[in-house]
Amino acid sequence: MDPTRDNPILRFTAFWWALGTFFAIAVVIAAIYLFDRQPAETPEEAAAEARYKIREQVDQAQKDALAAADFATAIPAMAKQLAASKPVAVEKPEQVVPGSPTAEKLAAEPADSGAGATDVDALTPAAGTAPDAAVMELGKTQFLTCAACHGQNGEGGPIAPPLAGSEWVAGPVSNLIRIQLRGLEGPLTVAGKDYNFAAGMTPLAFQTDEQIAAVLTYVRNSFGNSAPPVLPEQVKMLRSEVGKPMLKADDLIKP
Ligand code: HEC
Repeated sequence: MDPTRDNPILRFTAFWWALGTFFAIAVVIAAIYLFDRQPAETPEEAAAEARYKIREQVDQAQKDALAAADFATAIPAMAKQLAASKPVAVEKPEQVVPGSPTAEKLAAEPADSGAGATDVDALTPAAGTAPDAAVMELGKTQFLTCAACHGQNGEGGPIAPPLAGSEWVAGPVSNLIRIQLRGLEGPLTVAGKDYNFAAGMTPLAFQTDEQIAAVLTYVRNSFGNSAPPVLPEQVKMLRSEVGKPMLKADDLIKP
């Protein structure tokens, strides 16, 4: 045996060196563990963190929200605005209150009556109102388009019914405007005669509001017809009809 190995002093120092080294490493590991910890990693911890963030936002929002005193000033101001606001036109059928004047008005119109045909007809001047001479002149030039099918004197022909003596021409203005803007097809009765033209009447929406009002005024006051004039604003109110499918007699208000 090596005598130096068995030296008690050497054994004593070696023991303490080993112990010291062990503790030094333990301290280093503990330090690394303590100072290098990562934030929440498990799904539960991550979810909890999201909740804390939302909680923070809610607390902040509640802090920023109106105080009771603010409501005291805001409500009268809002009430004033509400009282001053005008009622908004009903846009969807389900908004109409059953039995209300609006419901009754809509029931009087055909289902596919466009943008408020009865509102348009309400604007028609009283019976006996004479048409403006300049409007009649303009209407006469515009009528060339119609004459191609309906005849020079609105007498009708092989491809179109008569306009002379037609109850449609003398009837509601919204019908006439809509016929011109959307066209008309299918069986039709005019002045007691049944017609069914294969091609129907194509939409003729290319004229201005003034031109359409003038030609319809002209037709209503020529060939023996006599009815109040048609106004450009009435045509304008029905412009949204352009581009919709051609009308059938059932889509019109009975003259
Ligand atoms: C391409 C031919 C054609 C042209 C152009 C035409 N129409 Fe018609 N129109 C018809 C036909 C066809 C009917 C019948 C539709 C049906 O069968 O449902 C008709 C029906 C009508 C009716 C309802 C029925 C009646 O006789 O009263 C009016 C009103 C009318 N047209 C006005 C006009 C006016 C106004 C113009 C000119 C801006 C015009 N049309 C241009 C072919 C035409």
